[in-house]
Order: sequence, then structure tokens, then C-alpha cells
Amino acid sequence: GKSGYDHYMLKEIHEQPSSLRQCLRGRVNELQGSVTLEELDAVVEQEFASPVQFVACGTSYHAALYAASLLQQEETPATATIASEFTTDRVPVNDGSLVVGITQSGETADTLRALREANRAGATTLAVTNTVGSSAARAADHALYIRAGPEIGVAATKTFASQQLALLLLSVALTGRSSHDDIQSLRRVPDQVQTILDTSSARAIAAELVDSQAFFFIGRGMHHPVALEGALKFKEITYEHAEGFAAGELKHGPLALVTEDTPVFAIVTGDGGTARKTISNIKEVEARDAPVVVVTDGVSDVERYADHVLRIPETDECSAAVLANVQLQLIAYWVANEMGRSIDKPRNLAKSVTVE
Ligand code: F6R
Repeated sequence: GKSGYDHYMLKEIHEQPSSLRQCLRGRVNELQGSVTLEELDAVVEQEFASPVQFVACGTSYHAALYAASLLQQEETPATATIASEFTTDRVPVNDGSLVVGITQSGETADTLRALREANRAGATTLAVTNTVGSSAARAADHALYIRAGPEIGVAATKTFASQQLALLLLSVALTGRSSHDDIQSLRRVPDQVQTILDTSSARAIAAELVDSQAFFFIGRGMHHPVALEGALKFKEITYEHAEGFAAGELKHGPLALVTEDTPVFAIVTGDGGTARKTISNIKEVEARDAPVVVVTDGVSDVERYADHVLRIPETDECSAAVLANVQLQLIAYWVANEMGRSIDKPRNLAKSVTVE
């Protein structure tokens, strides 16, 4: 059942501290500053000649974008491709390639086809999935389980968070790069998510913004996939127009849509170059009178430019991307709830998409 929650989605959002703990269990060694993914020993030892290629659909594609950024940050070339756009003629794959299909259900037709084509071309394949024994787990040479537990709500919430964390582990395992600090921040994520669930002001903010015309989400670097995911979740369950952009892209077109009726959600953490640049983009939308909601750790002075603030605990940018997403899940949920939408079963959508 829903354990007292009005919807499975809210229950599953609240299960994240425990599902994230499950994802980490037995996989991180704080003393050695290392990550062990037993099921992937063979993959980790292999050398790959071409970039690591992540393929996925929908929310899982946002996890793929995040994973590619994690590897690129460690100077390991990586790409993310929408599974339905992945063909071995356009994306070169051979026996020196590693192709990683990310699919929580393990049954998404587009992702299965990409994995099977990659297999035929001789690539090493890995499925990152929630479902033991799923078609993806069987189609790929290797499987990494995200251990999120069953998800009933059609909108992916806890499975996305667990994909992010599992992909953080995978990137440490593949690049062999990690410090004691990195491992400690991984370890802290479940408790930090709990802090957000206990303190979020998303419900009150949602009530104020519910009558808007459209909703925009911006982020840069690790927070770009989070902006895309924030918008996808929002449109799925509210049926309102929502779009996510790379913060720097606003001025290349979307800014034309920004008015006092289009709230802009911006993710800003730390106080480095990435944060400074996103703050400049926030000033551009503020000048058009758009309500600005910032998701921030409070390290920079971004709150000066915000109408509303969604606080997350301070951590590194990679882990912050997991935390920021939780605030945006809550925003989508509370706006949809305010509008009386069918949150667990949005119109026209199915939990697993088994046609191409
Ligand atoms: C959005 C959502 C979908 C799925 C997509 C892929 O909330 O759930 O976008 O992410 O259909 O599903 P999986 O991960 O099962 O391959």
C-alpha cells in the first residue's frame, strides 16, 4: 500500500534515503577510499579504445547525460545518446567499445535494441537496471543493479536518484579516481536527502506558482541534466508546459518566452565559475520579471536574486545533482497535487514502454 501517503509518488520520494543506502551497501570502502562493484570486476579491468557510450530513454537518458559528464570530468571520454537515435552506423561501435544501457525497468524496447545492436557489433555491453532478470540484464554482457526497490508511480523518482548514485559509483570504479573526500560525500547523500525531505519548502512555493503559464528549469554542468529531469517530471504529472535548458542557452532563444507568468527554477551550487555564470543567466530572467526559484546550497549570493529558495545541504557538485533533483521532484508533486492531477497514472503514459 501507500503507507499513509496520498500517492505512491510521494511515498517513493520519501523512500529515497533508504533506497540510496541500499545502492551503496557493501560497495564503498571509506578507509581505502575505494569503490567495489563485484559484478563488474571484468569490465573495470578492461581497457576501452573508444569513448564509453551511454544509451537510454526519458528520465534514464538524463541519468546518461549525468554519467557522461561524470566520466568527462575525470578525463575519460564518454557520450550519451537517446536510445531510439542510437544506430551502429551513426555511432561507431566495435570490439573496443563499452556501451552502457541505462533502464530502470530493463524492458524499454529502444534501449534493448541499442544494446542488442551493440552486442552484434562486438562491443562490451553493460545494463544499469533496477530489475534482476530483466530483458536488459539478460541482453547485456554485464549488469549493475541500482537496488531502488519496486516503483509503482509511473513518474520515475527513486529509480532516478538510485541511477545517479549507481553511476557515481560506476564512474569511480571505471576511472579509478577517488579521494577520501569523494567517498565521504557519497556516503552522506542518503542522510542529506532525508534533511531535504524534512525541511523542504516546496509545498508552499508550489501553491504560489500554480497559476503560471509555463515553467522553465535551468542548470549548467552537472545540473544541466537535473534541469531537464525537473522539467520532464513536472510536465508528466502536471500537464503544464515545462522545459529544461542549459542555463547558457537561454539567451540563444528561450529567453523570448520568459515573462512575469513563467517561473524559472535555477540550480546553483558552490561559488565557482559555473555558479557565477548561472547567476548571470538568473539576472537576465529577473530583468524580465520572471519569478525566480533557486535550488541552492547557500554558498554563493544567488539568494539575493531569488523570489523563492529551495535549500540543499552543502556538498560537491556531483552529489549536489542528486540532492537538487529531490527538491524538483517535490515541486512537481505539489504543483500536480494542487491541480488535482492523476499523479500516479498520468494520462497517455505507461510505466514501461515496450514498443519502439
Ligand atoms: C519518466 C519516465 C520515463 C522512463 C523511460 C525509460 O518519469 O519514467 O521517461 O524513464 O520510459 O524507462 P526505463 O528506465 O525503464 O528504460
